[in-house]
Amino acid sequence: MLNTKPADNQFPIHELIKNRYSALTIDPNHPVEKEKFNSMIEAARWAPSSYNEQPWSYVVGFKGDENHQKLADCLVEGNSWAKQSPILMLSIAKKNFTFNKTPNRHDLHDVGAANAIMHLQATDLGLAMHQMAGFDVEKSIKTFNIGEEYEPASMIAVGYLLEDKSTLPENIKKREEAKRERKDFEKMFWPV
Ligand SMILES: Cc1cc2nc3c(=O)[nH]c(=O)nc-3n(C[C@H](O)[C@H](O)[C@H](O)COP(=O)(O)O)c2cc1C
Repeated sequence: MLNTKPADNQFPIHELIKNRYSALTIDPNHPVEKEKFNSMIEAARWAPSSYNEQPWSYVVGFKGDENHQKLADCLVEGNSWAKQSPILMLSIAKKNFTFNKTPNRHDLHDVGAANAIMHLQATDLGLAMHQMAGFDVEKSIKTFNIGEEYEPASMIAVGYLLEDKSTLPENIKKREEAKRERKDFEKMFWPV
């Protein structure tokens, strides 16, 4: 299990939840085993969803293939650190329920749940993962022919952590080493 940047939790939580974090230093030259990738997708597959719609799907790119280049090209400058990750994905939400074609108010919510569960599985497998909102949504829609009934959710970078961090840009090193912050436990309750 990855345990690089554990949460400074106030009450006991599961080790997986404690250790999951959004890594910025992914090794571009350490490919992810196909079995591990499959387990991550399988974990997402078993996420809960409204009416069991399972509104998620993923564009997947492995470093060196066409999808990977296209996904990298959609990332904003600020997420350049992710462009060489061994795996890039775009999570996509289906906007309407399949059974009655009405809007599913929880489509992005449920894709988020699937991605969070995927992230926990990645953590257990010793893999680093990072979701990103910073990408050109319109470009991703055009590039991957995403029809009106779907919407891009988040980009995802996956890989092993970089061991030698000496060549990293200073700002990335600083962010990776920064303390993980959370609002106070008391602020979890309404009214906030
Ligand atoms: C939907 C979503 C979008 C995010 N977008 C970005 C992003 O574009 N760039 C980035 O560096 N981090 C992004 N993050 C990571 C968050 O900044 C991170 O989850 C937050 O700071 C908490 O840190 P932790 O995940 O390590 O606990 C995103 C996370 C989520 C869930």
